[in-house]
Amino acid sequence: MPERDLTPYVIPQLAKPDDGPHPRYDFARIFGNDHPVELEIGIGKGRFIINQAMTRPDTNFIGIEWANRYYLLAARRAAGRSLHNLRLLRDDAAHTVRESLPDRCLNALHIYFPDPWPKTKHHKRRLVQPWFAREASRVLKPGARVFLATDHEDYAQQMEQVFKDDPDFALISRMIGEDAPEGITNWEVKFRAEGRTMFKFEFARK
Ligand SMILES: C[S@@+](CC[C@H](N)C(=O)[O-])C[C@H]1O[C@@H](n2cnc3c(N)ncnc32)[C@H](O)[C@@H]1O
Repeated sequence: MPERDLTPYVIPQLAKPDDGPHPRYDFARIFGNDHPVELEIGIGKGRFIINQAMTRPDTNFIGIEWANRYYLLAARRAAGRSLHNLRLLRDDAAHTVRESLPDRCLNALHIYFPDPWPKTKHHKRRLVQPWFAREASRVLKPGARVFLATDHEDYAQQMEQVFKDDPDFALISRMIGEDAPEGITNWEVKFRAEGRTMFKFEFARK
């Protein structure tokens, strides 16, 4: 069977021209409407974001994934379901958030099981750092939410502290182990089956 045309379901990386400022996405133009926009970073095979796009057609979703294999898999799934409220982007999320998102463009940010980089010498590669909370503050609308989940205790502590330390965020909920509601990402299903402890946080952009 010929490959479906994935063009309507993906957006390109934006590169800085030599002679001008970084271009930024215009989501109203991309989606053809001004519905709320939610972003998921590190979508893996796309289970969460595809489910959200299917069940909430009046919200637009952007999914970022660095691994080409997962990005293509998710794009094919989006195309197979004709999900016109979902766009997938292959990029380093740090680049997208810092350079390509306009101010106050998002209603929610979802980050589930980001790579924990467990070795101390690699901690600087973790996505959730003070600079990231500052950028999240810039791109989220007032009242917007940040949802975080991990099975890695040390990274969980870092995530919670980073957003607590940023003056623009307020902790809404902190759920650990038995108290953490069941989510629907691929990694969460796998980790729960292994009996690992889940750490989940929700913050609000003030
Ligand atoms: C542990 S997996 C979790 C996937 C999914 N969120 C889940 O819960 O099933 C982490 C994912 O984030 C992606 N990723 C890691 N660093 C990234 C980055 N800087 N930008 C975009 N994606 C990234 C990886 O390729 C991988 O698919």
